Amino acid sequence: MQGSLRLVNGENGKETVSSNTRTVPGKSWSFRILYFFLIFLVLGLGVCILSMNMIRYFGLRNMVLRESSSLEHCSDNINNLECWLRPPSNLMHNMNDTELFWRATFAPRMNEYPYKRIPKLAFMFLTRGPLPLSPLWERFFRGNEGLYSIYVHSLPAYRANYSRSSVFYGRQIPSQVTEWGKMSMCDAERRLLANAMLDLSNEYFVLLSEACIPVRNFTIVYRYISKSRYSFLGSYDDRGPYGRGRYNKGMEPEVTLEQWRKGSQWFEVNRELALRIVEDKFYYPKFKEFCKPACYVDEHYFPTMLTIEVPRLLANRSLTYTDWSRGGPHPATYGKNDISKEFFDKISGRKMCVYNHRLVFLCQLFARKFAPSALQPLLSLSSEVFGY
Ligand SMILES: *[C@@H]1O[C@H](CO)[C@@H](O)[C@H](O)[C@H]1NC(C)=O
Ligand SMILES: *[C@@H]1O[C@H](CO)[C@@H](O)[C@H](O)[C@H]1NC(C)=O
Ligand SMILES: *[C@@H]1O[C@H](CO)[C@@H](O)[C@H](O)[C@H]1NC(C)=O
Ligand SMILES: *[C@@H]1O[C@H](CO)[C@@H](O)[C@H](O)[C@H]1NC(C)=O
Repeated sequence: MQGSLRLVNGENGKETVSSNTRTVPGKSWSFRILYFFLIFLVLGLGVCILSMNMIRYFGLRNMVLRESSSLEHCSDNINNLECWLRPPSNLMHNMNDTELFWRATFAPRMNEYPYKRIPKLAFMFLTRGPLPLSPLWERFFRGNEGLYSIYVHSLPAYRANYSRSSVFYGRQIPSQVTEWGKMSMCDAERRLLANAMLDLSNEYFVLLSEACIPVRNFTIVYRYISKSRYSFLGSYDDRGPYGRGRYNKGMEPEVTLEQWRKGSQWFEVNRELALRIVEDKFYYPKFKEFCKPACYVDEHYFPTMLTIEVPRLLANRSLTYTDWSRGGPHPATYGKNDISKEFFDKISGRKMCVYNHRLVFLCQLFARKFAPSALQPLLSLSSEVFGY
């Protein structure tokens, strides 16, 4: 501007300006100062407002970035060990069983972990629908975060409705129709195991039903299971009609009559056994074809298979108390009127069992079957009788 002005006006323009400054210097200076002052004021205010906004914007943005970057960072950077070890935040996935089992059986070949691994107990609930005794379980789990994880398999039509504060919130896994006593039952158990195995810190896997309750507190359950040299899976040779009587010769040569075992469906296995159950393709087709009702496959498949493969890892007994004394094909179910301190004194501490080669009184950590009506009396007894 000045350049072009000078070019147009030449010496004259310069003259005029200098003569002007020379003629009324006071008025011109004060005007200029006021002018600059106003410009600075406007500029200053502008910068002020702008910077305030910038701080707000970038501050927030940085916070958002910082939060999402750890997530993003993990979702597309599994090369980072910490991220790779983190369990999936959402249990829902769209892998089918073939894909899931394949994914679940990834296992490290080095048995020394390059980080501090806290082994977790995975509690796997095989249910039809709701968990009526969940308030008791909530009490049992309280305060033990980081030492357990929960997985629930229910009939696919059931929509779970737990509040956000519940330990069962968001713990449902993709489920399929399951019929008691059929292979679809073992499929559901393998599906629970496979989903739980996706979390690499799960080391022990406990199968439970909606009618089960814990009869010891978490501290005792955790110690009992994690210090055991054996997995608690029932396995015995029953020579009667409900044992060997269910064997079918078609299973040879994979399974012979002498190898045939029976055991309770409710088990606890460690990761090594869980891996064997999920990866099995050798025994599975035989059991699917030759063990149909009245051969109840969930009582024979895992006990037989694991006794053939890894007998030295089995305790051959279950941790879940079940009362078959009333006779018939179903165990006794306890309701409101059965629950008392004497009742639990009776079912625990009567028989002895072997634990790590020693005879002990503590044999069972869970018990079944309990009706929904048993919940209130159980809640009032739990701290005195179960220690939680
Ligand atoms: C799962 O999907 C794969 C690929 O589509 C397929 O080969 C496999 O048979 C499916 N498995 C089941 C159990 O549906
Ligand atoms: C889910 O639970 C809430 C409160 O516990 C209840 O208000 C709501 O009706 C329930 N929804 C269904 C579908 O059961
Ligand atoms: C469980 O039974 C198998 C054979 O059936 C045996 O080899 C193993 O030693 C038993 N486990 C214990 C802890 O006794
Ligand atoms: C668990 O139960 C045992 C025995 O009943 C008791 O000594 C212990 O204090 C309980 N632990 C907790 C954390 O409540």
